[in-house]
Amino acid sequence: MASQVLIFVPGIASFRTSWLGDRLATAAAASIVLTSTDVMDVPRAIQDELLTQVGADAIAIRQGGVSRLIASSAEMPSRIDQLTDLRQPSWTGNIRDAVDTLFYGGDRIMRVVGATPSGGELELIMVDDDLRAAMIAYSVNSIWVTLILSALTGALVFLALQRMFVRPMRRMSQNMVTFTAAPEDASRIIEPSRRTDEFGVAEERLATMETDLRNTLQQQRRLAELGLAVSKISHDLRNMLASAQLFSDRISALPDPAVQRFAPKLIAALDRAINFAQATLTYGKPLEPSPERRLVRLGVVVEEVAQVLGLESHPDITWENHVPPPLEVDADPDQLFRVLMNLCRNAIEAMEGHGDLALIRRLTVDARRSGGVVTIEVRDTGPGVPAKAREHLFQPFQGSARPGGTGLGLAISAELIRAHGGDIELVPATGAGSVFRMTIPDRPIDFAARTGRVGAA
Ligand SMILES: Nc1ncnc2c1ncn2[C@@H]1O[C@H](COP(=O)(O)OP(=O)(O)O)[C@@H](O)[C@H]1O
Ligand SMILES: [Mg+2]
Repeated sequence: MASQVLIFVPGIASFRTSWLGDRLATAAAASIVLTSTDVMDVPRAIQDELLTQVGADAIAIRQGGVSRLIASSAEMPSRIDQLTDLRQPSWTGNIRDAVDTLFYGGDRIMRVVGATPSGGELELIMVDDDLRAAMIAYSVNSIWVTLILSALTGALVFLALQRMFVRPMRRMSQNMVTFTAAPEDASRIIEPSRRTDEFGVAEERLATMETDLRNTLQQQRRLAELGLAVSKISHDLRNMLASAQLFSDRISALPDPAVQRFAPKLIAALDRAINFAQATLTYGKPLEPSPERRLVRLGVVVEEVAQVLGLESHPDITWENHVPPPLEVDADPDQLFRVLMNLCRNAIEAMEGHGDLALIRRLTVDARRSGGVVTIEVRDTGPGVPAKAREHLFQPFQGSARPGGTGLGLAISAELIRAHGGDIELVPATGAGSVFRMTIPDRPIDFAARTGRVGAA
């Protein structure tokens, strides 16, 4: 529309000059015939006919310095309001005159001057009402054309936007909605439209993402089903092994020396199998409950662990509890007990079984607090963690390098410590033995709630 307005202004100016030029041309044609006769000789009827054709009140011609009136109406206008000289067209003058006529004209007397083909000068005196009416008709037409063009352009732009942006965008968002409703259904994955622009790239990415997500979900479902099956097997296996254990207990009471030799090994093997089934069952249970944290005296918990494991009166292993008695940990006491129990039992298992009396066997627990974090270290003088166990140390069922081990102890410990917002690691390269270090941070203080409470008080 703006461009149409810009075109309209010069357009109406040139319309005005060409309209006036037409009148002058008509008058010029007539003047050739009439130029030989004197105005007095031209019959009144012909003069009036010519004046109506041209739409003028008077027509005059000047040739060779002589002015002659060719036709004039009965009453000649007494004044001239506007002069338009078509022999000297000026761009700005034309526009100014056109605006003038369009807005203020209608009853003004114009003098229009132009050239005749023979080199003379032709002059018209006319009222500008016809001119103005023609200009208004031209303007109305222009407005219609502008409106129709604008509507067409708008419609085309709308259609183009719809095709190029809105439709592919809607396609993608609708696909996201349907895919989210059933992400395991492969038919709901978006089919990229092979466009080369950003929409094409986005569709490709979306398709890849949906495919990956679907595969992951499927894999997880299978793993969950597998886990369920393993739990059932472990459950039945444990019950069968338990009855086998009952019988082997009875057999071990027989006085036969061969039985006396093999029965303890049989009982130990069955024990281990039952423990394994039991541990698998425990791990298969739903997630560990989130910790119920209290302020706990760490030294006392460590002492309890030592008692349960019989460390205080152990024949081979020296037990050292270096936890400062006043040290407090912000942790779930039961879960903390289980973690320490696992670490200490692993240490004992690593140090037992070597008959050499010269070997030093010492189990030490250290702890210190720095700021809001308590660090606990369980240290032994055993052979160190074997390379095979290091590879998957905190992963369930994979970290064990011990016959009869489940590889669950460290995995569960790590899970419990991480639920406290802390971490557990095997300290690398500590010389003889191995050191497991864990950090437990205090619960974060909710500053917003605190200040809110102070503000209310
Ligand atoms: N203190 C330690 N010294 C040497 N090896 C260790 C120690 N703690 C753990 N390990 C190794 O890490 C493995 C995984 O331990 P864990 O997760 O408790 O499973 P499990 O005790 O059932 O084998 C053990 O089999 C053992 O080889
Ligand atoms: Mg263990």
